[in-house]
Amino acid sequence: MAIILDGKNLRDKILAELKEKIDTYEKKPTLVVILVGENPASQIYVNNKKKTAEKIGINSIVLNYPENTTEQELLNKINELNNDNEVTAILVQLPLPKHISKENIINAIDPKKDVDGFTPYNFGKLFSGEKPYVYPCTPKGILLLLKEYNIEVSGKHVVIIGRSNIVGRPLSQMMLNENATVTVCHSHTKNLSEITKTADVIISAVGKNIIEGEKMLKSGCVVVDVGIFKDSTGRTRGDVDFESASKIASYISPVPGGVGPMTITSLMLNTVELFEI
Ligand code: GUN
Repeated sequence: MAIILDGKNLRDKILAELKEKIDTYEKKPTLVVILVGENPASQIYVNNKKKTAEKIGINSIVLNYPENTTEQELLNKINELNNDNEVTAILVQLPLPKHISKENIINAIDPKKDVDGFTPYNFGKLFSGEKPYVYPCTPKGILLLLKEYNIEVSGKHVVIIGRSNIVGRPLSQMMLNENATVTVCHSHTKNLSEITKTADVIISAVGKNIIEGEKMLKSGCVVVDVGIFKDSTGRTRGDVDFESASKIASYISPVPGGVGPMTITSLMLNTVELFEI
């Protein structure tokens, strides 16, 4: 049976250390989270971010905007936050309503306050192999989790499923930085299971139950499940069929309790890193 990659345990350890560090600061970091509309999943994520920040001594402000907010209103607010010395980190929760250009909004954030690492400056630095101010939270959390279990990716075949800007794309670059051989699969990939069968490390970030143990995994591989959704019975699921995969993998991250807690942990780490610039 596979060893569980326990994101909750590592989160608690890192946040305890971070709290001690923040306790020594005279002035505290301030994270502003912008939430537009009433997407229930986003509301839960944003609440968790706020609660976690407050627990470790980070000031956290959530700005709720109605669904019909204009792009210009948001741009004005971001401009104001960029110029506010009290604000050290800005996060715009995604997805945004369709009438707002995600690119225009992200582009407007000062890269030194871009706690997601999503601005063209930070993304460009990452993709050119240079150091961004911070690395995107979910990929960073995945690397921290693998490191905690001494899982080395150098020279290994890392297969990433999903090419989103939040996970797949930045993760591919961070894995290259770690000297992995990287394959990125997506909805147009043919013969997915032939590729996943060759993976030493497989990371799935799709949001659909697509990974089955026997058919798709190599014996002893490492499985990281980024997907999270509710199935038809209302149960929280990941992309991976845990039961079959855990019989074949050497390590596996559970859903919930694997990558999710690590994303929030990375957000807190990034908030402190930006504060220290
Ligand atoms: N929506 C889902 N994940 C994320 C994330 O990491 N950052 C932001 N800003 N929005 C998200």
